[in-house]
Amino acid sequence: MLGLKLATDPRWVNIVESNIEEILTDHAWCEQKAASNAISLITQNSEKEELVTALMLIAQEEIEHFKMVHDLIKERGLTFGRERKDSYVNELFKFMKKDGSRNDALCERLLFSAMIEARSCERFKVLSENIKDPELAQFYRDLMISEAGHYTTFLGFAKKYADHVDVDKRWKEWIDYETSIITNYGKNETVHG
Ligand SMILES: [Fe+2]
Ligand SMILES: [Fe+2]
Repeated sequence: MLGLKLATDPRWVNIVESNIEEILTDHAWCEQKAASNAISLITQNSEKEELVTALMLIAQEEIEHFKMVHDLIKERGLTFGRERKDSYVNELFKFMKKDGSRNDALCERLLFSAMIEARSCERFKVLSENIKDPELAQFYRDLMISEAGHYTTFLGFAKKYADHVDVDKRWKEWIDYETSIITNYGKNETVHG
């Protein structure tokens, strides 16, 4: 799915179902971080009108997702806990090349963003197909579609703005790196855990 080489073991959903408050708290923070990421990309690339326009839409959608998860937490009488660490995203961050031209650094940041969208989308798909709670199954199906659109947008802009990067080749390296780290996950009740 979306070029990912390893699918999440559906038994991960059993772990998630044992602690809905934890997955919803972590998920809410993922949406907040996705919105922040889009806003910070706008801050750093204000002159790129097409990019800024698309990122404003993504930021709005991520804030809307954040609200939707927060509403679910409230409706269920659960507590929205403190921000959770996301070691999967931290490992992806380390792989990101921070040198090169400004546009090449932007390209890396967009590939990093696309990678997170791709795996999040895959995790939402696994949740939508396996979780027993029908409200959450529908919720994750809807979000899966939205995150797939973000993945396509980020990858498209990486190709548009890269100066010296062979984006197809570099994306394959991202996929291979992701494959090497994701084998350590699937054991916790968090979106990327
Ligand atoms: Fe989202
Ligand atoms: Fe997204």
